Amino acid sequence: MLSFKSLLERIETRRKVQINTDGAFKIVYDYEKNPDKIVKMFPQHLKVSVKKEYQGALKYPDLFAKVYKVNFDKNYIIQQKLDTKKAKDELSEFGDHYDMLRSEVLDYFENVVRDPKETKEVIDEFNKVNPELGKKVKKWLEFTKKVTELNIDKLIDYNPGNMGYDDKGNLRLLDI
Ligand SMILES: Nc1ncnc2c1ncn2[C@@H]1O[C@H](COP(=O)(O)OP(=O)(O)O)[C@@H](O)[C@H]1O
Ligand SMILES: [Mg+2]
Repeated sequence: MLSFKSLLERIETRRKVQINTDGAFKIVYDYEKNPDKIVKMFPQHLKVSVKKEYQGALKYPDLFAKVYKVNFDKNYIIQQKLDTKKAKDELSEFGDHYDMLRSEVLDYFENVVRDPKETKEVIDEFNKVNPELGKKVKKWLEFTKKVTELNIDKLIDYNPGNMGYDDKGNLRLLDI
């Protein structure tokens, strides 16, 4: 049987630079043919996630990054590349305001969005600091609400390493 590494060598794309530094399981490469896409390899024990990530993207296009191609034999997908830095930077801005870590901000937002009144209070609070920040936090809370509604059985790992902005300025998840 081919090792995971040698399977990588067989992938049709010419990938050079591994881009993921966080995330523990998958290997993510820039897709040299197109800078707007990435190649994501799944180890054999995560075979089931290939399907999950592909089907999730088809079913919930307003939540997940697009998947352009899937290969169930070689366990990889070609996925829309998201701007993960922008998402992390924004979470850091919110975190600075609260003196919280990025992941704590997301946990907090998940709770906030359960209550429309509290949601409005948070938006108002940031608006007072600066209207641009208010706009950003509103976007995050709307997105978090959608994720929370879908995530009733906690299948989605809603953490700062698993999201980013698409080219149209929408927040999207990249890991199911
Ligand atoms: N579509 C993408 N666009 C940009 N970066 C990505 C994308 N998918 C993955 N990454 C980067 O690779 C990391 C690991 O990918 P992820 O799908 O979260 O796998 P893991 O299961 O290992 O967490 C992400 O945290 C992110 O930094
Ligand atoms: Mg991840």
